[in-house]
Amino acid sequence: MKRSILITGGAGFIGSHVVRLFVRKYPDYRIVNLDKLTYAGNLANLSDIEQAPNYTFVRGDICDLELMRELFRRYAIDGVIHLAAESHVDRSIHDPFTFARTNVMGTLTLLQAAREAWENAWEGKLFYHISTDEVYGALPASGGLFSETTRYDPHSPYSASKASSDHFVRACHDTYGMPTVVTNCSNNYGPYQFPEKLIPLFINNIRHRRPLPVYGRGENVRDWLYVEDHARAIDLIFHRGHPGETYNIGGFNEWRNIDLVRLLVRTVDRMLGNPEGYSEELITFVTDRPGHDLRYAIDSSKLHRELGWEPSLQFEEGIERTVRWYLDHQEWMDNITSGEYEKYYEAMYGGR
Ligand SMILES: NC(=O)c1ccc[n+]([C@@H]2O[C@H](COP(=O)([O-])OP(=O)(O)OC[C@H]3O[C@@H](n4cnc5c(N)ncnc54)[C@H](O)[C@@H]3O)[C@@H](O)[C@H]2O)c1
Repeated sequence: MKRSILITGGAGFIGSHVVRLFVRKYPDYRIVNLDKLTYAGNLANLSDIEQAPNYTFVRGDICDLELMRELFRRYAIDGVIHLAAESHVDRSIHDPFTFARTNVMGTLTLLQAAREAWENAWEGKLFYHISTDEVYGALPASGGLFSETTRYDPHSPYSASKASSDHFVRACHDTYGMPTVVTNCSNNYGPYQFPEKLIPLFINNIRHRRPLPVYGRGENVRDWLYVEDHARAIDLIFHRGHPGETYNIGGFNEWRNIDLVRLLVRTVDRMLGNPEGYSEELITFVTDRPGHDLRYAIDSSKLHRELGWEPSLQFEEGIERTVRWYLDHQEWMDNITSGEYEKYYEAMYGGR
């Protein structure tokens, strides 16, 4: 094998796209997917590649230092793409400790195992940490973009935990000379996203004629990127990014939440053959999330300029594809929402 790469969190939303891309594109790489299979991890996301000869799945926790050491030894890992995390802001408000444990201590544990395995032989190694634009805090309603040098100013327990993990990764570069890269990406959307997140949740709610709860007046603005474009950026940066650097990844594609929800309503109604405006009445405004940042928008020009990355999809086209995928994969959705997949794990792994 030419390379041996540990991808963490590969059974989650973005991780499953990264694993699929690497397994298919690099048959001469060994891809080890390490995932704890929390509520957000779902091996059905990878059913199309699970038999590939260059793919190995290991169930485990990034906080388990002995297991991490063992994986570096057993598979002679020379690259890490670290996506495993608790990722849902609303959950972090109710349970910040779990976020600190996995996102901060888990990342530090993985860094420790990488350092022990690689120290004094850094050549050809890379620890690539996937992070979020939420670490930068909030922007005013209009004007301004987050750049790689924007000061960190996290507001939610989720973004605070990701900010902390980013700092530990950079500290390992600056202190020990570990080759590291950090990328901060905007909101992803596309197939296989756990239906607690806005886009799959609302597509499913429209299908079942359930309310569409929009925080505040829906004025919050987010930049959206199709998940496969993120996976392509990760591939490019893993191979061509410069150690010690940070790259922002975004779509230059800002949407107010309410406009996005209306686009979803229009698209789902059209695909289901409903009359125009049929599901608009499902939109309900609910009390705003505490600490809800008004606007995120990312300047990814460094990535465009230095590595030549471009997103491949326009947003309307990406939404079209995404809605089509969820409507065509109702079984995937129903398995999650009905708890069927919990039974599958119970049978395979004796529960979570
Ligand atoms: N979703 C987004 O829009 C977005 C945007 C920017 C950055 N990110 C970052 O990308 C990464 C992946 O996000 P996602 O949306 O795919 O998340 P996700 O919640 O869909 O997946 C996370 C995965 O990590 C696994 N995991 C959780 N705790 C673990 C632990 N202790 N040990 C091993 N595995 C564990 C889960 O089982 C799951 O498979 C995260 O680091 C997140 O912060 C996400």
